[in-house]
Amino acid sequence: MADAEIGVIGGSGFYSFLDDVSEVAVDTPYGAPSDSVFLGKIAGRQVAFLPRHGRGHHLPPHRINYRANMWALRSLGVRQVLGPCAVGGLRPEFGPGTLLVPDQLVDRTKARTQTYFDGEPLPDGSTPNVVHLTFADPYCPTGREAALAAARGRDWEPVDGGTLVVIEGPRFSTRAESRWHAAQGWSVVGMTGHPEAVLARELSLCYTSLTLVTDLDAGTETGHGVSHEEVFRVFAQNVDRLREVLFDAVAALPDNAARNCLCTDAHAGWDLGIELP
Ligand code: ADE
Repeated sequence: MADAEIGVIGGSGFYSFLDDVSEVAVDTPYGAPSDSVFLGKIAGRQVAFLPRHGRGHHLPPHRINYRANMWALRSLGVRQVLGPCAVGGLRPEFGPGTLLVPDQLVDRTKARTQTYFDGEPLPDGSTPNVVHLTFADPYCPTGREAALAAARGRDWEPVDGGTLVVIEGPRFSTRAESRWHAAQGWSVVGMTGHPEAVLARELSLCYTSLTLVTDLDAGTETGHGVSHEEVFRVFAQNVDRLREVLFDAVAALPDNAARNCLCTDAHAGWDLGIELP
């Protein structure tokens, strides 16, 4: 399999990332990922880009094969993943164009497979064991620092920390749901950050979420509520500077062999029962 070090999973409106790429189709024991993986170089690092919703955005958040996506990246050699995504702001000060690098996550999805360790045998007959990994801090601290420094270096002052609440979608929240999310003290709301982060942890991948606020969520705004059109328009307005931040963050990440964060020893003490790719 091709060699990649770092993975980038592009969100809504982020269908291409690198110019000079080779495309590889990857199959996994969990089925096909959202699309081919596109391999290219940034600052001498081999990067694998995967459009989360597929090219052309044919996959809604609840139909994305998150397990296949993370497995495919790992099977290519990826050990550190940057996951940009569009979100709604839950506080007036987190308006469109805000870049927030969350340090916490709340799962409000309803019907997504969120583990590799569910007792289901793989096609090769191996069966994952029951495994309960620590997930108190869902994001890679090193990746977060790289993302924050990259944004500052591009004069885009990021919000350092906050809670991303992930809803099932594909609809946006009602005003009551949105007000409730805000009242909990959560910062931004999206549809894809879960189960990506937890699956990354199960595969011992470093995972960093970079959330781009495209709208103020329904409870934050007295007007029309969120529209799909608005999300795509604001994402398109910010996609170039987000790409620059991601390029700089990729360049700043450590070598995979030098990782020394909590993400790498998540499996300590557990017999997984399966070989990770
Ligand atoms: N993605 C972008 N904006 C969003 C919102 N307001 N709610 C959920 N997901 C979103």
